[in-house]
Amino acid sequence: MPRVMNGCFFSFEGPEGAGKTTMISKLESLLRERGIDVVATREPGGVRIAEAIRSIILNCDYTEMDGRTEALLYAAARRQHLLEKIVPALEAGCVVLCDRFVDSSLAYQGFARGLGIEEVWKINEFAIDGYMPSLTIYFDIDPQIGLERIRRNRGREVNRLDLETLSFHEKVREGYRELARRFADRIVVIDANRPLDDVFAETTAAVLSRLKGR
Ligand code: TYD
Repeated sequence: MPRVMNGCFFSFEGPEGAGKTTMISKLESLLRERGIDVVATREPGGVRIAEAIRSIILNCDYTEMDGRTEALLYAAARRQHLLEKIVPALEAGCVVLCDRFVDSSLAYQGFARGLGIEEVWKINEFAIDGYMPSLTIYFDIDPQIGLERIRRNRGREVNRLDLETLSFHEKVREGYRELARRFADRIVVIDANRPLDDVFAETTAAVLSRLKGR
């Protein structure tokens, strides 16, 4: 059962290079300017223990990591981050903008790694214990374009998932599209292969309309 909270929980999803991080930071400023209390955060990480788990999961040296181990570590990091950061912010009435949440595990581990969406959902159900975003924005982009954007952005760290093949990233996209079909009430699909301003306008409209409808 989804839990009822004072604040509003938004998650942002997409393959590598979809522009989530830029959108979240612009949205955070816009909401602040309107006097709304906002907490922007990211997965995996966001709090001490989850950051420590992140450094294990994304370490490029750990090429032998098993897919289920990977899924369990993401779920463990999610649990800690949720309890320490997201839930207190929601209870305080804040709007939470979270860069990736459970759909990342369903698309990457469940679909692209082939562990199964239902299997990965089961361990995440245990981890999130009813806390789900009221709206998820999925930035859809051709992974080839997304990966190209990342290569041009040299400041960004290269992590273990970046080392995956293009066909893995294509599967991630397929996984997200499947989730968007299954959870059409929660997931809004935004075409991210457009100028930044257009993507931002659509993102803002979706978020503000959900906030108005509260
Ligand atoms: P990060 O550097 O935060 O990438 P991005 O800016 O694209 O969000 O790295 C997170 C990586 O972890 C990214 O490749 C997606 C992957 N991931 C999963 O595979 N499963 C998950 O549940 C989460 C949260 C992330």
